Amino acid sequence: MKLVVCNFKMNLNASDINEYLKEVKVDNNNFVVCPTSLYIPYFLNNKYKVGIQNVYYEDKGAYTGEVSPSQAYSMGVNYVILGHSERREIFKENNSLINLKINGCLKNNLKVILCIGESLTEKSMHKTKEVLKKQLKECLKDIKEEVIVAYEPIWSIGTNKTPTKKEIEETINYIKEVVIDLTDINPKVLYGGSVNEKNIVTLNKINNIDGFLIGGASIKIDSINKIIKEVL
Ligand code: PGA
Repeated sequence: MKLVVCNFKMNLNASDINEYLKEVKVDNNNFVVCPTSLYIPYFLNNKYKVGIQNVYYEDKGAYTGEVSPSQAYSMGVNYVILGHSERREIFKENNSLINLKINGCLKNNLKVILCIGESLTEKSMHKTKEVLKKQLKECLKDIKEEVIVAYEPIWSIGTNKTPTKKEIEETINYIKEVVIDLTDINPKVLYGGSVNEKNIVTLNKINNIDGFLIGGASIKIDSINKIIKEVL
């Protein structure tokens, strides 16, 4: 069964949540909503799973403004998104910090969705594989547990541009090879970057794809309902 993960990012206000809860009704463990962490309690106790968009790696302590993996798990959160390109670019997270966060999350039973992806410059220089391998190697250093990988080309996020079906398929195969080599586990690999209710029909036909990480379209009720219908 494929996974559909919604990344709301820093969107929706308290007043939008009720409509979302009313209109997006899914009875499926493979649907994961990752709201702004403040709103997580509203999404718990539904017939789907809840994820958090970021955590710190320590269990507790003097880290003003942060949320720990154990706090998230104790609330009923099951998934965590780590290494998103916005965290890497805006908040300067690097692979070694992401590695610490992955460890902290696995220790606390959170399922990790690790985002990796190349920039447009790297793609045009034919460095995609090299970049992805470095991200995987450093983020998954000494990790021997299952981690879900989300392949999110940076140039595709929020741009309405996606790689071709063939490019995605080849890259997913490559990611699986690298992760098996590193962890001995065949990972689930999701695709993320401008997935919407129109391109989902084509993207969903990619042979080796295990699901999708969806940003912009996940906060549009009609779009996400169509995506759910197509994939789950
Ligand atoms: P997008 O975002 O679907 O809006 O391109 C995806 C993501 O950032 O995870």
